[in-house]
Amino acid sequence: MAKLIIRNENKKGIIPPEIYGHFSEHLGRCIYEGIYVRENSDIPNVNGMRTDVVEALKEIKIPVLRWPGGCFADEYHWMDGIGPRESRKKMINTHWGGVVEDNSFGTHEYFELCRQLGCKTYVNGNLGSGTVREMSEWIEYMTFKGVSPMAILRKQNGHEDPWVVDYFGVGNENWGCGGNMRPQHYADEYRRYQTYVRNYDGNKPITKICCGANVDDYHWTKEVLATCFDHTEEKFHGFMDGLSLHYYTLPETEDDWNYKGSATDFTEEVFYQTLKRGYYMEELINKHSEILDWYDPDKKIGLMVDEWGVWTDVEPGTNPGFLYQQNTMRDALVAGMNLNIFNKHTDRVKLACIAQMVNVLQSVLLTEGAKMIKTPTYHVFKMYRHHQGAALLDSELTGSGTVGTGKNELPKVFESVSEDSEGTITITLTNNSIESKETVDIGLTKDGGAYRVSEAVFISGAMNAHNTFEAPETVKEQEFKDYTAKPDGLSVNIPACAVVSIRLKK
Ligand code: AHR
Repeated sequence: MAKLIIRNENKKGIIPPEIYGHFSEHLGRCIYEGIYVRENSDIPNVNGMRTDVVEALKEIKIPVLRWPGGCFADEYHWMDGIGPRESRKKMINTHWGGVVEDNSFGTHEYFELCRQLGCKTYVNGNLGSGTVREMSEWIEYMTFKGVSPMAILRKQNGHEDPWVVDYFGVGNENWGCGGNMRPQHYADEYRRYQTYVRNYDGNKPITKICCGANVDDYHWTKEVLATCFDHTEEKFHGFMDGLSLHYYTLPETEDDWNYKGSATDFTEEVFYQTLKRGYYMEELINKHSEILDWYDPDKKIGLMVDEWGVWTDVEPGTNPGFLYQQNTMRDALVAGMNLNIFNKHTDRVKLACIAQMVNVLQSVLLTEGAKMIKTPTYHVFKMYRHHQGAALLDSELTGSGTVGTGKNELPKVFESVSEDSEGTITITLTNNSIESKETVDIGLTKDGGAYRVSEAVFISGAMNAHNTFEAPETVKEQEFKDYTAKPDGLSVNIPACAVVSIRLKK
C-alpha cells in the first residue's frame, strides 16, 4: 500500500496554465485537414476552422498554442502567408513529406484560431533562414497599432487592430534543423535577433524564448547562457524570458537509439521501456535547472518544454513524413506522469507544449475526413485541466514500489496535488503497472476529515487500448468510485494501467 501525504498548508507557487500547452506545425495533417479545412468545406467550420476540433480543445481549456513549427519555422517566410489566399506563394515543405505548402493558413488564420480557442499565442520566428529585418517586421505587423509600413499592410489585409503575441520563439532547434549552429554562434545570433523583437506600445511585453537544448545537451545550455549573460553586470538585461527544452519519448533499445516501434503493437518490455524513457524528463528538468539556477537564481527565466511527447513509428500505410501515429493507454501514462512532473517543477517550468495537437505524434485528437476522435492523451489533459492556475500543494508519495525491471525500473505511482482559488483540491495519479492495482492512503495535514470527494474520474485499459474511428470510446473518462473516507482524508484503489483525478471540497 502507498501513502500520499498532502501538506495542504504548504503552497508551493501557482501552476502556470501554459504547461498544459499545445503545438501545431505545418506538418502532415495537423494544420491542413486536422484544424483548417477552409470556409467552403462540407466539414462544419467557422472561418475555416473545424468546429468539432475547436469545441473539443475548448473543453480541455487549451491555454497556449505554438505555431508554425518546429523545423518548419526556420524555413517559414511569413510574408508568403498574408494577403489574398489565391495569390499566396506556394513552397515545398522540405522537412515534412516534400508536399506543396500553399500558405493558405498564415498569420491571420493563426490568430483567428487562437481567438476561437480563447488561448494565448506563441509564434516561433525564423532565425535559421530568415533575416533580422524579416523577424522584426513580423513583430511590427502583428503588434504595432500606430502608423508604420507593416501596420498599414496588416490593415490593408483586413485586420485593423494589432494582435497580442504572448510568446515569441527566436528560432527553433538551431542546433539541428534550424541551422546546425554551435551554441556560441546561436547565442550571439539570439542576442542580435531578439533586440528587434520590440514591445510596441509599451503594452504587455512579449515573452522571448531562446532556443534551448536537445535532450541532455547540457553543454548547449551552459554555453548559450554564458554567452547571453552579461558577466560585468551579472544579469541578462531582461532579454531572455524562457529557454526551451525538447525531449521526445522514444522507446529506444541498446542497439538502436532511434528505435520507436509500433504505436499499438508492443511488448510489456517495450511498454516499461517507454515509461522509463518518459520518466527521464525528471532528470532532464533537474539538470538543466541546475545550470539555470547558477545564472538565474531568482528563477526569472522559464524552462519551456515546448516539444515533448511519445514518438513512435507512423501508422502502417501512411506517409512517413506526416508522423501520423495512434495513441494508447501507454501514451496516456506518459502524459499523466510528465504533467505531474511539470506541476512539481512549477518554480522553473513555465510552459510546455505537447507535440502535436492534431494528427501528428502524440496528438489529443485524430481526424479522418469529417470524423474526429479523442485519444487517451486527450482525456488526461481533460482530467488535469483543474491544475491550470491552481496552487501546487506540497505532497509526498511513499511505498508504491516500482514497476519494470533492470534498466526499465521506475516508480509505480506518480502524483501531483493542487488547490484552486475556491479551495478545491485536485489530486492526479498514474498507476504505471500493467498487472496490479494500487491502494493509496491519502492524508491531508490540515482539516483532512472535513474534505469530501466532489468529483472523481479515471481512464484505464490494456496497455495498448486505444480509440479508433470505428470504436471511438474504447478508452473514455469514467466515474471513479473505488475510494473510502478516513479521518484525515481517503483511501483509493487505483486500477492497473490507469490515470485518476480526484477533487476534494470542504
Ligand atoms: O515535432 C516534430 C519535429 O520535432 C519538430 O519540427 C522539430 O522541432 C522536432 O525535431
